[in-house]
Amino acid sequence: MKFRVAPDLARAPELVAARGNAVGQPMIVLATTPSTNDEAKRGARQGAAHGTTWVAEEQTEGRGRQGRAWVSSRGESLVFSVLIRVGCPPSRLPTIALVAGLAVRDAVARAAPGASVVLKWPNDVLVEGRKVAGVLVEAMTAGRKVDAVVVGVGINVHTRQFPDDLGDRATSVALVATEPVDRAEILADTLAGLDRDLHLVVARGLGLVHARLVAADALAGRRVRGESGDAGTAAGIDDEGRLKVRRDDGTVERWTAGEVHLVENGG
Ligand code: BTN
Repeated sequence: MKFRVAPDLARAPELVAARGNAVGQPMIVLATTPSTNDEAKRGARQGAAHGTTWVAEEQTEGRGRQGRAWVSSRGESLVFSVLIRVGCPPSRLPTIALVAGLAVRDAVARAAPGASVVLKWPNDVLVEGRKVAGVLVEAMTAGRKVDAVVVGVGINVHTRQFPDDLGDRATSVALVATEPVDRAEILADTLAGLDRDLHLVVARGLGLVHARLVAADALAGRRVRGESGDAGTAAGIDDEGRLKVRRDDGTVERWTAGEVHLVENGG
């Protein structure tokens, strides 16, 4: 069956172009695709320019981090991928993921003034402890250098009902905002944030956005557990994008990747 792109998404290219940022142009708006990250990777192989962005009304095979599926209902979510052409060592990738998460956090906070929107390392965006958005960064390498990076973002925007298994863990911008929300605005705000911070962070690390990261950090001071079972107290994010964790013996470790769980009741 044929369907169209809703007006609040269809106007995104015009809005982004009016702002004049390099990230977000050109923008390809698709009614449906298996995954915007796959569109962007194909575009990268075919020579698409830095900043090219693919946004879709529907994804049929959206994927998240850790091999999970990213399920979104047509018309309710904002799903898009940005092609970033940076030549950098793979060690810079965590900083790109964090800057993307911060850009999404700021855009969601702008759409939902008054809501407490935070960033759960490495790049989940939460409101009131529930996930509103996630970021999947996939790198394309040439030799030992990163040649291109695809930043894929999924934001629950208009969703009002989630499947039972997500119900107590997910939320949407519409559920926490007091005014009507618009996907084109959230997209343009996210892309503007990326455009502003990306190159500085790739060149110099997270120092220049560190204060904003500290302010948005959902984990600071909380008891966390990593995938290996190691636990400790989150103690901030360093300039390379690693999570600092204070173990019970007082030593501070730096965790580079993976899933981090909040441990309720300090256990
Ligand atoms: C996560 O939290 O696990 C990351 C979710 C990332 C989902 C986005 S939606 C747009 C892009 N295309 C995909 O297939 N995945 C990302």
